[in-house]
Amino acid sequence: MCKRLGIGNEIADTNGGAGLEPAQVKGKMKGLILSGGRGTRLRPITYTSAKQLVPVANKPILYYGIECIRDAGIGDIGIIVGDTQCEIEAAVGDGSRWGVKIAYIRQQEPLGLAHAVKIAEPYLGEDHFVMYLGDNLVKDGITSLVREFEVERPNAQILLAHVDNPQEFGVAELNGDHVVHLVEKPKEPQSDLALVGVYMFDHHIFEAVKAIQPSARNELEITDAIQYLIDRGYRVRSHIIGGWWKDTGKLEDMLEANRLMLDALERCVEGSVAEDSQIHGKVVIGAGSRVIHSEVRGPAIIGENCLIESSYVGPFTSIQSGVQIIESEVEHSIILENSRVIHIGSRIEDSLLGKNVEVRRNHRKPRAYRLMLGDSSQVNLP
Ligand code: G1P
Repeated sequence: MCKRLGIGNEIADTNGGAGLEPAQVKGKMKGLILSGGRGTRLRPITYTSAKQLVPVANKPILYYGIECIRDAGIGDIGIIVGDTQCEIEAAVGDGSRWGVKIAYIRQQEPLGLAHAVKIAEPYLGEDHFVMYLGDNLVKDGITSLVREFEVERPNAQILLAHVDNPQEFGVAELNGDHVVHLVEKPKEPQSDLALVGVYMFDHHIFEAVKAIQPSARNELEITDAIQYLIDRGYRVRSHIIGGWWKDTGKLEDMLEANRLMLDALERCVEGSVAEDSQIHGKVVIGAGSRVIHSEVRGPAIIGENCLIESSYVGPFTSIQSGVQIIESEVEHSIILENSRVIHIGSRIEDSLLGKNVEVRRNHRKPRAYRLMLGDSSQVNLP
């Protein structure tokens, strides 16, 4: 059986539950994963799927977060859910698969990250907690950061990362090691240090989230809540992370996260590869899949029961189960369950195809593009 990609040094089983048994996980701290939000920047995919369930290297992004928190020794995780509650619950269940206990907390409206903290107070009580944005990926995990927080016991600990586009994030200004100022999506950022979507708090954060006012985008910003703590002299530590981190809110970021996760792939071929085909490098091919008269160049992952025929699958491609690629080329893309790419002749690149999508060339006359696209779809023709 193939190993599945995990975060940090940990590799999880195909059942997603390797590592700590429930009894080993102690509830010193709780986890709070935010998995609400509408995912507007990933439409139309997010009309029918929660953005946190879009797979990266064939595993829902949300699972990486759960594993990351579990690996830090945290056994109680609350998940904030919105309109996609049913879907998230169906995918995650009670957490026993990972050896953790999951509770669901409903946020009726996406009113901001600080609002999510506010409604989680009855669940969190007096416990310290790590808040993790469900669409974030932190390559090296958070275990050492959680330890640091437990030892130092500040009132809050934030993670920062150098980015090229700070205006798209919460931005921190430091004086030495000291955080002096935090601004949410500033037009003129005073540094390139973005707030990573992983935060650690003690119960003083509840005082802050109750005191702040909604921002211009009508949300209670966690950035403002942390600034409140700073202004009142609470201890806010910061840690600049070295490894990569991704907020997968947009297609380009999703593809980059996919690329980075696939890089850590181990070769494992369970499906059948015909003699007339070539497989190069780190490639995973799931059981029941067939590769015929084709070339697959890794890193790439192909799920179960796929058919790759007379085609080329290039690096950084994730293909979920039940997909058919026939007489076509695909590279640097994510293709979800049961989609079909047939006879297109040319290459699909930098793309995300949803479930049951069909892209096909036919020879009907007159020659024309015939499209049926969901709202907010994007098509880029050469
Ligand atoms: C949120 C936070 C922002 C942080 C970012 C990290 O932004 O408001 O401060 O830098 O997550 O992913 P949003 O995703 O709500 O735009």
